[in-house]
Amino acid sequence: MTDTTPETHEPGLENLLTEDRRFPPSPEFAAQANAQQGLYAWANADRVSFWAEQARELLSWETPFEEVLDWSKAPFARWFADGTLNAAYNAVDRHVEAGHGDRVALHFEGEGGDSRALTYADLQREVSKAANAFTALGVGAGDRVAIYLPLIPEAVVTMLACARLGAPHSVVFGGFSAEALSTRINDAQAKLVVTADGGYRRGAASALKPAVDDALTKGTPSVEHVLVVKRTGQDVAWNDDVDVWWSDVVDQASDQHTPVAFEAEHPLFILYTSGTTGKPKGIFHTTGGYLAQAAFTHRNVFDLKPETDVYWCTADVGWITGHTYVVYGPLINGATQVIYEGTPDTPHRGRWWEIVEKYKVTILYTAPTAIRTCMKWGSEIPAKFDLSSLRVLGSVGEPINPEAWMWYRRVIGGDRTPVVDTWWQTETGAIMISPLPGVTETKPGSAQVPLPGIAADVVDDEANPVPDGGGGYLVLTEPWPSMLRGIWGDPDRYVDTYWSRFKGLYFAGDGAKKDADGDIWLLGRVDDVMNVSGHRLSTTEIESALVSHPWVAEAAVVGAADDTTGQAVVAFVILRGDAGGGDQEADAVQTELRNHVAKEIGAIAKPRQILVVAELPKTRSGKIMRRLLRDVAENRTVGDATTLADSSVMDLIAQGLSAPG
Ligand code: WTA
Repeated sequence: MTDTTPETHEPGLENLLTEDRRFPPSPEFAAQANAQQGLYAWANADRVSFWAEQARELLSWETPFEEVLDWSKAPFARWFADGTLNAAYNAVDRHVEAGHGDRVALHFEGEGGDSRALTYADLQREVSKAANAFTALGVGAGDRVAIYLPLIPEAVVTMLACARLGAPHSVVFGGFSAEALSTRINDAQAKLVVTADGGYRRGAASALKPAVDDALTKGTPSVEHVLVVKRTGQDVAWNDDVDVWWSDVVDQASDQHTPVAFEAEHPLFILYTSGTTGKPKGIFHTTGGYLAQAAFTHRNVFDLKPETDVYWCTADVGWITGHTYVVYGPLINGATQVIYEGTPDTPHRGRWWEIVEKYKVTILYTAPTAIRTCMKWGSEIPAKFDLSSLRVLGSVGEPINPEAWMWYRRVIGGDRTPVVDTWWQTETGAIMISPLPGVTETKPGSAQVPLPGIAADVVDDEANPVPDGGGGYLVLTEPWPSMLRGIWGDPDRYVDTYWSRFKGLYFAGDGAKKDADGDIWLLGRVDDVMNVSGHRLSTTEIESALVSHPWVAEAAVVGAADDTTGQAVVAFVILRGDAGGGDQEADAVQTELRNHVAKEIGAIAKPRQILVVAELPKTRSGKIMRRLLRDVAENRTVGDATTLADSSVMDLIAQGLSAPG
């Protein structure tokens, strides 16, 4: 049997299939778990009615649905389409009506140590005020709202107020540049932008409003107002025609607001993510199916007990994890959760563990990159805090190497807690492949099994399922409720990107292996998408940012394995002799170009390293051989270069790099 495993580049994954440690759930955990083995059989018997049952049980519908799945226009799905509901009512009001108004919904912890608790009743008032204020600013059902905020309660309130009005939100992570923000505002034609003067990052006030001002200067004709939350009190430039203070309009608005129900397929949000081309894709999700799967997965994968658990997902709301597992999943389920504004090492490297101790967090959901960073800082740091409240640990965003998984379980989980490695994507909307704590015997480093109601497989180049022990491409073989409904404004790109590589199958872009038990091990991206600290970045997008600088003639970007961030951005550039770049010292080139990428895309996309070269390795058809550049970036012997148009190029690059600088 030939191994068709695609080339992937993640650290520490080469020995995955020799990993034989196993962790069965404890009998005590299994006995009390929400999810029991029987869920799989139930879902297998009739996947579609299984989801219908979940949607009925976990959500409150204004008009109950009759229709479950309409796949007649595949790959465009409709779920629960004749039902109507309001997302914010489901996340907030109904918990108050059920007598849980005094339950804390959000324990907000500011980076500077300020904290605020909002109960479900508080949240209902805040969301109602915001909904009234947005209406007064001209936002109605179907209008898009861009959100560019730090992780503060107003971010959650704004998202829910949009949902309440049926106005799809488009959250743009605060680390993206003005340029990236303006592209996203224009693509979605946002009418309102909600931002803050700034937020706290690494112990200092970090401005946000200037990026919005800049974005508007670039031309964003759809924007009528910019609503500004005062968080840091720093000075802001002000344009009376456009800018409005949150405190002037939201705080003054009535706290009574009656939600109206929308069709299940009404768009809930757009979230941009990097694709294999330069232009980010506006992934859009609708209401009923998305909320049903968000609630189901949050309840079962994390074993949520809303009366007693304190849940904490460390993601920012600028990413899909923040949408599904900070806002919609937990709130639909009536959970009490922690949100933290800042960085894990401010003011000290034990900050996260101090928060776990302070709020007695029981469920923690974070990313491998954070786990590896904490490992590097040393086990003695978490050891200083009482982490005994923890009972479930989750991981998301990138493959987790077995050693990080073991450390997470042992040092953070006291060798007691189940660890669930959850695979999913912005596009899938909710968790797709994950162990169920209390049911699955876990394996360090593997996401293992599709959830009940989810159908996934690993296929070879010809779309044939690989046998157990084989490797190939991860695909999803049946539609699921929280699947993306498309790419905003570009239905063809949706079909091309996800549904044309393998006929009738959703191609996720990830490589994977099946072990002898048929369990799935994710191996990282197989396309030109990098995964840096769990954030998706496109090689093409960074390359176009680099060549937009006058010094740069050509650029090639690769994701090189990195012990902490999973992958790191390494760029190879050819400078233009005539534009001044050639006269610069290597350090000056690095600094200038790194800052340029930060300006074009955002600080998260800054290359770790920029190497100036005379030539790039290309095939005879002109395709850059990134594989060879990755070898260089990872300090490996350069692999087979026989298909290069000019085979001396790699020698030149190697010589150039070793030449005294
Ligand atoms: C990767 C984040 C391995 C994968 C929720 C996917 C993972 C991309 C895992 C989606 C995991 C996410 N194991 N890889 N548990 N979770 N990925 O859209 O490459 O930001 O395609 O969604 O992250 O990233 P996105």
